[in-house]
Amino acid sequence: MNKITAAITGVQGFVPEDVLSNADLAKIVDTSDEWITTRTGIKERRILKNGASSDMAVKAVEGLLKKTNTDPMDIDLVVLATVTPDYPFPSTANVLCDKAGMKNAWGFDLIAACSGFIYALSTGAQFIETGKYKKVIVVGVDKMTSILDYQDRTTCVIFGDGAGAVMLEPNQEGLGVQDFILRSDGSGREYLVQPAGGSANPPSIQTVEQRLHFVKQEGKQVFKFAVINMAEVSAEIMEKNNLKSEDVDWLVPHQANLRIIDATADRMGLPKEKVMINIEKYGNTTAGTLPLCLWDYEKQLKKGDNLILSAFGGGFTWGAVYLKWAYNS
Ligand code: UT7
Repeated sequence: MNKITAAITGVQGFVPEDVLSNADLAKIVDTSDEWITTRTGIKERRILKNGASSDMAVKAVEGLLKKTNTDPMDIDLVVLATVTPDYPFPSTANVLCDKAGMKNAWGFDLIAACSGFIYALSTGAQFIETGKYKKVIVVGVDKMTSILDYQDRTTCVIFGDGAGAVMLEPNQEGLGVQDFILRSDGSGREYLVQPAGGSANPPSIQTVEQRLHFVKQEGKQVFKFAVINMAEVSAEIMEKNNLKSEDVDWLVPHQANLRIIDATADRMGLPKEKVMINIEKYGNTTAGTLPLCLWDYEKQLKKGDNLILSAFGGGFTWGAVYLKWAYNS
């Protein structure tokens, strides 16, 4: 019998309908469309005015179930990546399973910030490859606006809200996840962090007054590590799998900054046409960026295409996944 691989058999995204443009932000903080566009590539982002991360995840998952003709009762496992869970506990995966009627599934949340989706995809794939499960859903979702400080122009212009979900199923044609390299370095935690609300700094009047429940980022420091490591790990997974530039059909990069994406593509020797980019319309949706890219580009993907997914984020966390696309849509 051929080896079982974990193939993506469907993808669905969800973004809220409310748009926050660069011009809108310029009315709130001291910034400009010109600064945001040239420094990041972002033109606008979506914001969820009502509801929680699970509400976006439910929309993505319901769409995915419909599209793949799947009964929610057939789902075995949900792995959900987020840094903006509905609650500290129970997990958003639990809430999602309930709301979407996946009553036979168990699930858990995984925190790896912007690398959340590749961590979750690699984890979910193990349960398929071992033969244990037949249907695993991997979700990347973040309601970043719930932890953004709209008095801090260095962070509030970057992030947006969104969700994406993929279905993983066994494949015996050698399609799906081929390899992954995942890394972390906790010494980077000070540069990108939500300082309060956890056990280190439980909520108090002081933590609220000091605005410590919001995202804090030292952009320059994060940029320095991101631009090197995302490019390096992407080149490393190519070398490890004997892939030349011409063998790679698509780079699916985390959408944090167009300059980081360009540096990664350059390092891999890929032309722009092979790089998925949607940062201009969604900004950085943290765990949502990669499945939202796959969703936006799904129609252009062909069975057998070689994709490299790559990300860098808070933690620090980073890594890359090599997968072969499994269907024509
Ligand atoms: O997704 C998770 C991982 N995160 C990332 O990968 C983000 C990595 N970092 C970045 O993408 C970039 O560092 C940023 C986009 C966050 C910032 O760009 P930068 O080119 O590194 O700018 P900077 O932080 O060095 O700031 C340059 C100047 C500063 O002014 P001075 O000190 O030169 O007078 C900032 O105060 O730009 C100023 N600035 C702004 N100006 C207008 C910072 N934010 C803004 C703003 N509008 N929104």
